[in-house]
Amino acid sequence: MSLAETRQNTGAGNATPKPDAAADAPLSNTVVRMRPMSANAGMEILGIDLRQPLTDAQYVEIRRALNDRGVITFRDQDIGPEHQLAFARRFGTVVPVEFLDTVPGFPEVGIVAKEPDETRNVGGQWHADHSFDPVPPLGSVLYARELPESGGDTLFANMATAWDSLSDGMKATLETLRVVHSKKNAAYSDKRSERAPDAKLMQHFAGLAHREHSHPLVARHPDTGRKVLFINANYTARIDGWRDDESRALLDTLLAHAYRPENTCRFTWAPGSLAFWDNRSANHYALNDYHGQRRIMHRCMLQGSPWREA
Ligand code: SIN
Repeated sequence: MSLAETRQNTGAGNATPKPDAAADAPLSNTVVRMRPMSANAGMEILGIDLRQPLTDAQYVEIRRALNDRGVITFRDQDIGPEHQLAFARRFGTVVPVEFLDTVPGFPEVGIVAKEPDETRNVGGQWHADHSFDPVPPLGSVLYARELPESGGDTLFANMATAWDSLSDGMKATLETLRVVHSKKNAAYSDKRSERAPDAKLMQHFAGLAHREHSHPLVARHPDTGRKVLFINANYTARIDGWRDDESRALLDTLLAHAYRPENTCRFTWAPGSLAFWDNRSANHYALNDYHGQRRIMHRCMLQGSPWREA
């Protein structure tokens, strides 16, 4: 089936979508066709053209999939930054870009790039974006512009199902704890310093080093009220009030639990692929396995809301 044939967004009650390669996918929902990406994380959304606005019914089902699965993905999109922004704005307020160069004319669209002569990538470690901020972002919309021949996949972990699958005893203990997330804790240094280690940039990063915030280890998702393990390998520095060795032992156990294969999914990008993850309920990890090749992605980020009270 051609791209053009898949271009019609079918609103509620509209004609049955035309068959395509994914026609055998389980129909999880009534308005939008979807396919789970793994047992617990990720939902691929089928038959939607992101150049068209979502209908209200489509929005509701896509939002529910994002809430349940932590990340949703789309394929074969032929969109520009204006469509990416319009799609993102359906879900919230797009925030200014930090740390990345931006697409000319689109200050809210950052360029996530790795060039053939670079060795570090952006996001090459399990993390949630800006988890060191008092109100972490709702999520990010990432669109593939240029891809390596192979490699450069992104992994996602569902931190809500990670919480659900802990024992009641462990849950009771964890609910009393808070964790400090720190920019300084980042396991990988900021990638831009590899390319342009100028004084102004280094001063900028030094200023960020002290950005940190204490969050509940078990947070209530602002939109769904669902409990999530709000920790990640890159920015979670310590458990409030615990010694470093004590913190490390418990955090490592919890992270190993959260990143178990059955709790994750892997997205292999193709030209026109787009992923939208919920940054409160999912961790992500950009694989850095394509040295010598270019990978260019466009990313916009949505403003979050404070954690919901218990
Ligand atoms: C990121 O961490 O935001 C980048 C993810 C990716 O490039 O796959």
